[in-house]
Amino acid sequence: MPLESDFDDYCRRYLEQWEKRATVRHLPRTRLSAEAARHELFPAALQPILKHAEVVARGPEARHRLLARATGTFMLHVAILEVDVITDLCIRLVTKGADAPVPESALQVALTVSTDEAYHAYVAREFLGDLEKHTGVVPGPAGDSDMPLIGGLAAVRRRAPPELARAADTMVLCFAENFVTEELFGLSKETDPEGPFHIIVREHMMDEGRHQIYFQKLFRHVWDGLDEARRTALGRLVPHYLDSLLTAGGYEASQADLLRYIGFDGETATRIAREAIAAAYGTERPAKSTMKFMRNALHLVEVSGILEHPPTRQTLVESGWVDA
Ligand SMILES: [Fe+2]
Ligand SMILES: [Fe+2]
Repeated sequence: MPLESDFDDYCRRYLEQWEKRATVRHLPRTRLSAEAARHELFPAALQPILKHAEVVARGPEARHRLLARATGTFMLHVAILEVDVITDLCIRLVTKGADAPVPESALQVALTVSTDEAYHAYVAREFLGDLEKHTGVVPGPAGDSDMPLIGGLAAVRRRAPPELARAADTMVLCFAENFVTEELFGLSKETDPEGPFHIIVREHMMDEGRHQIYFQKLFRHVWDGLDEARRTALGRLVPHYLDSLLTAGGYEASQADLLRYIGFDGETATRIAREAIAAAYGTERPAKSTMKFMRNALHLVEVSGILEHPPTRQTLVESGWVDA
C-alpha cells in the first residue's frame, strides 16, 4: 500500500534526524537565574486580571508575584501532562499497539517522543525548583479538573468499547500532541525573547513542532488501517473527546487562584476574575468551530482525513465542531 510505505519512509527519516533536532540530544539546558526571576516571567497579555483596577491598586510587587505564580502553575502542568499523559500513552502505543498495524519505525519514533517529553518534564521541574528558590513562589493547583487533557483521556476511556481501547488511546494521544503546541506557541510569541521562560518554551516548541506532524501522520495511518466498524466507532468518540476538553477545568478558576495567591478572599477573587474575563473576551461563548484554543485540534480533524468518512463527518457536524 503506497500510503503505508510513505509513512514508514517519513518515520525512518525522523529517526535519522532526531539526533540533530531533539533538544535533549544536542542543547544544554536553560536555568532560571536569580536576576531573571526579578523580571516578569509570564506573558501579561494572557492574564486579563492584571488590568482590573483592584489588582492594579495592589502595586508592582503583587503583579510580579501573580505572574510568577502563573509561570509556576504552567510549568507544573507541563511536568505532569508530559509524563502522566504523553509519555505513558507513547509507551503503551509501543508495547500494546493501536488496533491497526503500525510500522516498527513509527513505534521507534513514539519512543523518541516519550524521551523528549520526559526531558521536558525534567526541565519544567527544575524550573519550579529555581522559581521557589529565587522568589519563594510555588505553583497553583494541579488536580485533574485543572488539566483538560487528563479529563479528556478519562472521558474517552469510559466510553471506548474494549475492542477499540488501543485506537481510542492513540486518538487521544494524537489530539493531545496537536493541542498543547498551540498553547505554548501563544505564550512564546508574547514573552521577552531573552528571558529564560521564553527560551525554555521556545526550545520545547522546537520539539513539539516535530511531534505535531508525526502525530498527524500517525492518526491518518491508524485511521486508514481500521476496519469499517472500528472506524465508525472511533469517529463517534471524537466529538465526545473535543467536548470533554471544554467542560473540564476552567479559566475563571485559574484566574481566581492567582488572585487568592496575592491576598484576595475567595469571593472577591471569583468576582474580579469574572469581571476581568468579561471585559477582555466578552460574555458570549464562541461557536465550537471558531474557538481559538481549539484551532490546533480542529486542524488535526482536517488533515487526518477523518472528514472523508461520511458517518464521522456527520457526527462532527451534528456536534457543532465542523461547519456543514
Ligand atoms: Fe513536550
Ligand atoms: Fe510533544
